[in-house]
Amino acid sequence: MHFAAGRRKSSLVGAGAGAGAGGTTLDPFGAKHASSSPLRKGGRLPVYVAGVFFVIFVIIMYGEDIRSVTLARAGPSSPLVSGGHRAATPRREAISLPDQKVPAASTTTSSLPRDVHEKQPKHTVTTTAAAAQQEAPPRNKVAADSGKIKKPKKASKKPRKQRTAKKTVVAAAGGALGVPETCDLSKGEWVFDNASYPLYREEECTFLTSQVTCMKNGRRDDTYQKWRWQPNDCSMPRFDAKLFMERLRGKRFMFVGDSLNRNQWESMVCLVQSAVSPDKKYVTWEDQRVVFHAWEFNATVEFYWAPFLVESNSDDPKIHSIQHRIIDAESIAAHAENWRSADYLVFNTYIWWMNTLNMKLKRPGGENWEDHDELVRIEAYRKVLNTWASWVDENIDPARTSVFFMSMSPLHISPQVWGNPDGIRCAKETMPLLNWRGPIWLGTDWDMFKVASNVTGAAAPRVPITFVDITTMSERRKDGHTSVHTIRQGQVLTPEQQADPGTYADCIHWCLPGVPDIWNSLLYTRIMSRPETGIATTR
Ligand SMILES: *[C@@H]1O[C@H](CO)[C@@H](O)[C@H](O)[C@H]1NC(C)=O
Ligand SMILES: *[C@@H]1O[C@H](CO)[C@@H](O)[C@H](O)[C@H]1NC(C)=O
Ligand SMILES: *[C@@H]1O[C@H](CO)[C@@H](O)[C@H](O)[C@H]1NC(C)=O
Repeated sequence: MHFAAGRRKSSLVGAGAGAGAGGTTLDPFGAKHASSSPLRKGGRLPVYVAGVFFVIFVIIMYGEDIRSVTLARAGPSSPLVSGGHRAATPRREAISLPDQKVPAASTTTSSLPRDVHEKQPKHTVTTTAAAAQQEAPPRNKVAADSGKIKKPKKASKKPRKQRTAKKTVVAAAGGALGVPETCDLSKGEWVFDNASYPLYREEECTFLTSQVTCMKNGRRDDTYQKWRWQPNDCSMPRFDAKLFMERLRGKRFMFVGDSLNRNQWESMVCLVQSAVSPDKKYVTWEDQRVVFHAWEFNATVEFYWAPFLVESNSDDPKIHSIQHRIIDAESIAAHAENWRSADYLVFNTYIWWMNTLNMKLKRPGGENWEDHDELVRIEAYRKVLNTWASWVDENIDPARTSVFFMSMSPLHISPQVWGNPDGIRCAKETMPLLNWRGPIWLGTDWDMFKVASNVTGAAAPRVPITFVDITTMSERRKDGHTSVHTIRQGQVLTPEQQADPGTYADCIHWCLPGVPDIWNSLLYTRIMSRPETGIATTR
């Protein structure tokens, strides 16, 4: 298949996944409404009581929202609404939340600069239509951006002040960091650390696309860049670009998935690029793949666009549409041929699943996309992940290739849920949720999380797959999204659009530097704590 570099035209209203992005400039987008998990099992109230609460709540909070979505979608198929999809988001717990709410600026952070400059967005009813539309920057523009790599980098960053971690992990000789696999990196807290973070400067990384350069796009507060993740039981070493590039020497590091994974790819490129001399690094765009070349190291850091991992009719950004998204749950080979020789594979798939409760699956042996069945989302997800895991099991040499699966990146579109009734989506958030106890009910589909966790743990017995839980930590980062400081149809939002976050705020993707740098630090920690594998070593 060939993917033109053109822009996506359709506006993705509402839903999750938009997508888009092109084969080349993959900046999918979309998801607007978080979706949410169906009511959880085991609730203590009878389901109908919860249901009544819920309907009332939805009507109060989202009436306008739903109306606008319905109108915007202008079609009979508005599964987002009719399927009760939305209905699952806020739950009983969310309604009684005020007890648990933690004011954003808690004691540990009171000394932080408050964002007094941020414009107060209008208090209009939040409409959702179109907010999630996004397009990739035009290819040329990105290429041009990427081309500007001649800028003398501030030679190797000066080592920053030693941070005071609870427990310091000393890098052992040979680059093995020695963080035990048994340490659960997903449980911990965000700690303000402006001495060590951000890990790079927004303006220093010319590879960033304007989708994520929030400061350049007008964001005033930069506190979101300065949070270190502190796991409870061990410490994550600070990302060391030189050490990591040595590990990548002669290797291919590849992200495969949707726009969130591309967000993470951009982060990784910025994390490593300071270790590569100017003129010895560049980015190329080919069909569904974007490749950062560090030819001094004969290494690449790549992103491959496959929002469902398996094949789908949405792999071409120009011809997809929300109503007609169809997956071929058993076909993965055409995509996977491109992954086969990678040394590190980092997968994800989530946001594109969140449009509808049921997914359309092409019938095995079906003649064309029209020949499809519907399957409830969670079962379709399980099926697709099993297809993927089987491919991994049959095709990956675990002695050479390390495989990771990133868990769901959460959305922040319902500020009531975290106790900010005056919020407009994520637009006014400048602080993480600190000291928050318990779940937040943002609409993250934890059932899908469990399926992914299970499948990665069991479905590829021959190949270890590391499931990387970023969900809980990222749920606390309502402050980290690009919000209105991003692009739409290739252009930075206009002041008028920025003043209307109810319509335009992107609360799916993340500013860089920012939260995805921490996700990559998790990968770094795992990779650098393991013995080196692969063919490129001469030891
Ligand atoms: C870090 O933050 C503190 C508190 O806001 C401030 O006093 C200090 O100057 C900051 N340091 C750096 C290096 O930005
Ligand atoms: C560069 O890396 C590739 C694998 O990505 C390897 O096949 C090739 O031999 C390497 N070339 C050199 C000169 O090391
Ligand atoms: C995950 O696996 C466990 C044990 O194999 C099983 O009990 C559980 O039902 C599975 N959960 C899902 C969501 O598949």
